[in-house]
Amino acid sequence: MHRPWSNLRARVFPDHWSLLFGQIAFYSFIVIVVSGVILTVYYEPSVDPVGYDGPYAPLRGVEMSRALDSTMAISFEVRGGLLTRQVHHWATLIMVAAITLHLLRLFFTAGFRRPRRMNWLVVFGILTVTLAAALTGTSLPDDMASGTSLAVLDGVLQATPVVGSAISALLFGGQFPSDVLSWFYPLHIVVLPAVLVVLFVAAAVLALRHRPAQFTGPGRTEDNVVGRPATVAAVKSVGLFCFVGGVAILMAATATINPVWLYGPADPANASAGVGPAWYLAFLDGSLRLAPGWEFVVGGKTISLAVLLPVTICTLFLALVAIYPFIEERLTGDRNDHHLLQRPRNNPTRTGIGVAGVTFYGVLWAAAGADTMAVLFHLSVNSLLRLFQVLVILGPPAALVITRRICLGLQQHDAQIAVHGVETGIVVRQPDGGYVEQHRPVDAYRRWQLVGASTEKKTAGQP
Ligand code: HEM
Repeated sequence: MHRPWSNLRARVFPDHWSLLFGQIAFYSFIVIVVSGVILTVYYEPSVDPVGYDGPYAPLRGVEMSRALDSTMAISFEVRGGLLTRQVHHWATLIMVAAITLHLLRLFFTAGFRRPRRMNWLVVFGILTVTLAAALTGTSLPDDMASGTSLAVLDGVLQATPVVGSAISALLFGGQFPSDVLSWFYPLHIVVLPAVLVVLFVAAAVLALRHRPAQFTGPGRTEDNVVGRPATVAAVKSVGLFCFVGGVAILMAATATINPVWLYGPADPANASAGVGPAWYLAFLDGSLRLAPGWEFVVGGKTISLAVLLPVTICTLFLALVAIYPFIEERLTGDRNDHHLLQRPRNNPTRTGIGVAGVTFYGVLWAAAGADTMAVLFHLSVNSLLRLFQVLVILGPPAALVITRRICLGLQQHDAQIAVHGVETGIVVRQPDGGYVEQHRPVDAYRRWQLVGASTEKKTAGQP
């Protein structure tokens, strides 16, 4: 039986900074688990009301849940408590950013082609489960910001036809906000982290089943791996772990994040102004803001598109991202195994699709901050939302066309450099009186990149 880890010490690992995002995500997960375990010692997942009588004077005497009271105690009374909370939160942001960048790297370099299609699905799974863990985590302190995001979640669920009210009843016990923490707490500290452990193990096993993918370069082919021996790669990886942990602690020690004492206790009758969702969930909020308020009546029931449309579009968008490798394979008919990564410019259509997707996401993301932008730049929030509505429709196709043209231009530029060399800026006069610029031939490594890229173009399928 083939064991993926049996020849681990004999393996060679390619060395490129963009291949590190997956490791950064895993190491920030370890930091999150360690800091999370410490937090569980002091945090109380209870919505029972208490009067605050801790050291933070502005909230003294204010009624709040035990959850917020314990979070306040972690922040102001437990030694190192605030640091631990902030390490937990900053490491979450690092993890979401790293896993998103890893997914983008896989997309733009075609690292998702056979035999790594399952790996793409696993990484996508890690991203969605991490988002769920972050959402349940930010709800735990039961402060005004988390209460507002839960109220939005409940509103979205209630407005989703057929299944929405059942899911809302399940989560919130029929009456918002109820005791949602009794659900979210075990989900947050046991279920979702356990799913993440399974997904990380699956990612590691899948990665070890094949030789690592590598960028084109001198001597690199589909049949070999040029890189560092496993022992060197392991030592570097331990260094990376220390670096990730160090950065999370440094950020936690120097930059405040989620100052719940400024927001106060959650109150379903109020919503906090100026507090937006976490950046990684902002695109969902933006989609709600951009949806037109259309509604129609079916069989005596009012269906509002203001929520249904963004929920459907965002679900469709995420589903398309998840199954993209399978769509591309179907369209190109390319069922070969690939171990050499592609340069984004060498597949203009895929790169264009990727930039279109990023543009779509980016416009939704920016729309979530429309009210803050309106206040900051003295603009009408309605005009801003109208602008974003136009951009979300016209932006992605425009991005696709422009990106394709840029990629084709870069390909031509590559071909010129491979044939004529690099421009030196030195202009010489020829015997016949004409002027020409001297070109310097490119070095072997660069030519290999350029020539290797053009051979890769012939072998790889293009959608
Ligand atoms: C990938 C997994 C996880 C993510 C993304 C995550 C994220 C978060 C976030 C963003 C918060 C809010 C922090 C704040 O108050 O500013 C939080 C709170 C919390 N998390 Fe996690 N967490 C994860 C795993 C864990 C684990 C494994 C544990 C414990 C075993 C844990 C225990 C807690 C506790 C007790 C709180 C409430 C304390 C507080 O907010 O101060 N978390 N989590």
